[in-house]
Amino acid sequence: MAEFLKQSGFLGTHATMGADLSQLMATVFTTLFVIGWIHARQRKGHAHHWLMLSGMIAMLAFFTSYYLFRSLGVLAFEGKEGFGGSQELYNHVFIPLLTLHICLVIIGIVMAVYMIVLGFRSQAIVEGRRILRNELLQTSWGKVGKIFGSIAAVLIGLFLWRVATAGFSVRKLEVYLGFIILIGIVFSVEMAIQRIWPNAERRHRALGLFTMIVYCILFVTGTTTYTMLYILYPGKIG
Ligand code: HEM
Repeated sequence: MAEFLKQSGFLGTHATMGADLSQLMATVFTTLFVIGWIHARQRKGHAHHWLMLSGMIAMLAFFTSYYLFRSLGVLAFEGKEGFGGSQELYNHVFIPLLTLHICLVIIGIVMAVYMIVLGFRSQAIVEGRRILRNELLQTSWGKVGKIFGSIAAVLIGLFLWRVATAGFSVRKLEVYLGFIILIGIVFSVEMAIQRIWPNAERRHRALGLFTMIVYCILFVTGTTTYTMLYILYPGKIG
């Protein structure tokens, strides 16, 4: 599989099969989410729900498995080798763009999971129509603490099991600890957000719009990165 992803791509640029596949899937998923967004604006709750839910799950599955094969950051850590443009362009355009893109990827992944959960928490089926509940949606610190504690316990259990079967490594500890801290941050941010938008419907609309804007910028920054790396300034990779 790793070998297949390293072959020349199918788009006729300097990209590898992996980079082309990733770009194609990013286009497919962004298109799906924009269609889902249009459905929401047209008050087609069911169509919106199914498109967003299946799209987000498929996107998480694709990019997680893809990056596991390709090992995250080939693009980011291959460094100047992979970029054929000038040092100036590399320092002042390419790297800031890639950094923004990677930050948005992390926010995008968190928002995908968050919006799926919020979708289920904020919806109601009324007379066969899927609508957003125009009522308070608030959780207590106690409940959030219990949910966080349970997730952390599962992750610690998983970590100990991995250490027992495959041995200890600092990298493994960092990954699991980083994940637990990230979930802690998300829960704390959610407690602040529910004060700003206590109403279920308003919170879903506001954060849904934010998520859609993140995905659109992700697509633009990703496509620009692809264009710079594999069309305009191809380097030694690809
Ligand atoms: C996963 C990513 C999701 C995003 C980015 C998202 C985004 C949005 C946005 C922006 C709106 C408001 C559109 C507008 O009126 O301007 C909306 C409405 C809505 N969303 Fe989501 N949503 C997501 C997932 C879900 C899920 C999983 C469900 C159900 C479980 C859901 C149920 C609804 C419903 C019922 C509406 C109201 C449609 C109406 O006004 O009739 N959403 N969503």
